[in-house]
Amino acid sequence: MTSALVSGLDSVVAATTRLSHVDGERGELLIAGFPVEELAPHATLEQAAYLLWHGELPDAAALAALRTDLAVARELPPATVALLRAAAESGATPMDALRMGVASLSLATPPASPGETPRAVSSVTPAHRPAAETAALAAAVQLTGAFPALVAAHWRLRRGQEPLPNRPELSPAAAFLWLLEGEEPTPERVRALGTYLCTVVDHGLNASTFAARVVTSTGSDLVSAVTAAVGALKGPLHGGAPGPALDTVFEIGTAERAEPVLRAKLERGERLMGFGHRVYRVRDPRADVLGAAAERFYREGGDASLYSLARHVEATALRLLREKKPDRRLDTNVEFYTALLLHGLGLPTDLFTPTFAIGRVAGWTAHCLEQLREGRLIRPQAEYVGPRGRRWTAANG
Ligand code: ACO
Repeated sequence: MTSALVSGLDSVVAATTRLSHVDGERGELLIAGFPVEELAPHATLEQAAYLLWHGELPDAAALAALRTDLAVARELPPATVALLRAAAESGATPMDALRMGVASLSLATPPASPGETPRAVSSVTPAHRPAAETAALAAAVQLTGAFPALVAAHWRLRRGQEPLPNRPELSPAAAFLWLLEGEEPTPERVRALGTYLCTVVDHGLNASTFAARVVTSTGSDLVSAVTAAVGALKGPLHGGAPGPALDTVFEIGTAERAEPVLRAKLERGERLMGFGHRVYRVRDPRADVLGAAAERFYREGGDASLYSLARHVEATALRLLREKKPDRRLDTNVEFYTALLLHGLGLPTDLFTPTFAIGRVAGWTAHCLEQLREGRLIRPQAEYVGPRGRRWTAANG
């Protein structure tokens, strides 16, 4: 028996989770019990990752051990660096390079399959855990640790620069900025990036997380699951929107052009990037967290005129969306303020989505662990609408 078709699986509940809860009507996001506005301004990525993987925040010793493991994982296998070099030479985008780079992490002999013996990862002890889960947890640490290095190495190679040596004493956020630029990042930039990474660390059963859970549900490994998730995140309807959202602000340029430019886009049937969400029917709470971080950052020395232009563009877009689509509840999503904050941090547009992935990989891997522990094979059905009863004839060859 097949049940009714639900296009896009809208509102279908396909898993239980302890990781994050999205209330789209009230505009609330809980991350392992913490409202996002409580967690993100204070936590580091490594604390948020530990929270998702273990259900509790780490104590000082556990945090130190995790930091060490994440730093070790930033040492990429030589073959991965060679692959990133080839990707840069071929002109691959940062997201395509990240997808290729992640897939090649099997070369670092991470515990690719559940049940395999893990490489030594000091923050993961086998005590009270099935071997498969220990192996998967070690893979989660190694994947999360490698992401800043993968993104930064490809970025430098693409610009004709050599990857920089790892600085094991740095946190993942600080290390990412260092590996990109080779300059000591200021504490304010590290804090702002940390807030960003924690804001996007997990978000229910979004498309990329679902992709990771589907792969894990087949009994496959975390490298495969995260590779699939990167591919899903790349699309403009998911993680690919912040660059275009900022491009729109630049295209508008001055406040008085906001209305005519946005109106023309809507009249051409274009979507306004950074607005609308499958789940939120009110303002995305992450937009508020990032908006506050962006405001603080721009006030302390960023381009204040860009910030006020962006606020004007947002207000105009919301007014026009209400006018043009009165039946739809379209509000600002996370990508609009992602663009503003990451631009303020000095990151180029092409790095916005890969930077999102540096935070989200902790959530993807936590979902893989949860799927491994509790889930069944995910196997929905399709409603067949094609032809029937065809016959093979001689003309078919
Ligand atoms: N601008 C203009 N119209 C919009 C927008 C938008 N940003 N978003 C939705 N609509 C309209 C659609 O045109 C459609 O109108 P219609 O019924 O009159 O044809 C209606 O709202 C519903 O659109 P759907 O695509 O069915 O809604 P869905 O829930 O699938 O869309 C999505 C969610 C894909 C995010 C959409 O709002 C969108 O394309 N936004 C712009 C891209 C963007 O910002 N993506 C980042 C999302 S956040 C994230 O993934 C981390």
